[in-house]
Amino acid sequence: MRVLAIESSCDESAAAVLDARAGLLAHELFSQVELHRAYGGVVPELASRDHVRRLLPLVERALERAGTATTELHGVAYTAGPGLIGALLTGASLARSLAYAWGLPAIGVHHLEGHLLAPLLEPEPPPFPHVALLVSGGHTLLIEVAAIGNYRVLGASRDDAAGEAFDKTAKLLGLPYPGGPQLALLAAEGRAGALVFPRPMLERAGLEFSFSGLKTAVRHALQGRQLSAQLRADVARAVQEAIVETLVAKALRALEYTGLTALVVSGGVSANRVLRERLSEAAGGSGARVYYPRIEFSTDNAAMIAVAGLKRLEAGQQDDLAIQARAQWPLESLSVVSA
Ligand SMILES: Nc1ncnc2c1ncn2[C@@H]1O[C@H](COP(=O)(O)OP(=O)(O)OP(=O)(O)O)[C@@H](O)[C@H]1O
Ligand SMILES: [Mg+2]
Repeated sequence: MRVLAIESSCDESAAAVLDARAGLLAHELFSQVELHRAYGGVVPELASRDHVRRLLPLVERALERAGTATTELHGVAYTAGPGLIGALLTGASLARSLAYAWGLPAIGVHHLEGHLLAPLLEPEPPPFPHVALLVSGGHTLLIEVAAIGNYRVLGASRDDAAGEAFDKTAKLLGLPYPGGPQLALLAAEGRAGALVFPRPMLERAGLEFSFSGLKTAVRHALQGRQLSAQLRADVARAVQEAIVETLVAKALRALEYTGLTALVVSGGVSANRVLRERLSEAAGGSGARVYYPRIEFSTDNAAMIAVAGLKRLEAGQQDDLAIQARAQWPLESLSVVSA
């Protein structure tokens, strides 16, 4: 089975072609970061309009690079939610229309299931069941993954997501949007222990997170002080330390709680190198193994949507002719596909 996949839930337009046997044949992506930078965040209407411009050429290029004629496809997958409703609708209408015109089944994919299944594209995919730490711009979740589609949320952030905490504190340091990756770079210049920010909820039992207090801690640290290069780097390092240490501790706690020994880490923040190092170190010490998507598939992409779509189409699922797009969509309401 070979599928075309389309992603358009936020500010990345992407298309990919995945073959069940031959693997990933092509993946194309256009990031709208430059378009939104002047506004310090994603402007939904601008995002939708740009997806309309970008998606079809990306689909054409992906098919060409994959050496795939439309007659060789067996289905079209697309991100149906959660995300920005206008942005989702552009990808959903394109995918649904192409599938109709080509006489193929279409399947709407849950964006977070895409993030969760992205490590299946790697040479050594994770076993099921496993624990997943999903850390992105919009979500911080610890999930018990019994099988594809069988997701039990063990803990979530009560307020800001980990990626959001990176981005918002980066903004306070004057870094351009999206600040997460830039803050990580700046942190490398910071001195260990020069500043220490709170690790909220770490002392408390349970698997919930809270990152909104970090903004206030950073604001206090900067108050009345000259924003020197060293201070900015020290703050960046302390922010990264607080977020990473909290994520590592709670992920280990989730492994202990479930008795599982495989941990999947995905979503944009899983691109963070310090987080990867610390998690692998800590998990190794407790006999567990960590699985990541390759760095480029940590953030939004269509390859992960292709994996999730392919699994569901292989299981005989498909959508009707309605265009599916949902801004909100609980992960736990998905149907189960055995792994
Ligand atoms: N190296 C890094 N270190 C820290 N954060 C990073 C790094 N790279 C990316 N991020 C963060 O990852 C987030 C983007 O991830 P992703 O694209 O998965 O999120 P999203 O699609 O916006 O959110 P969601 O998937 O929840 O809808 C941003 O907050 C960004 O700052
Ligand atoms: Mg995402």
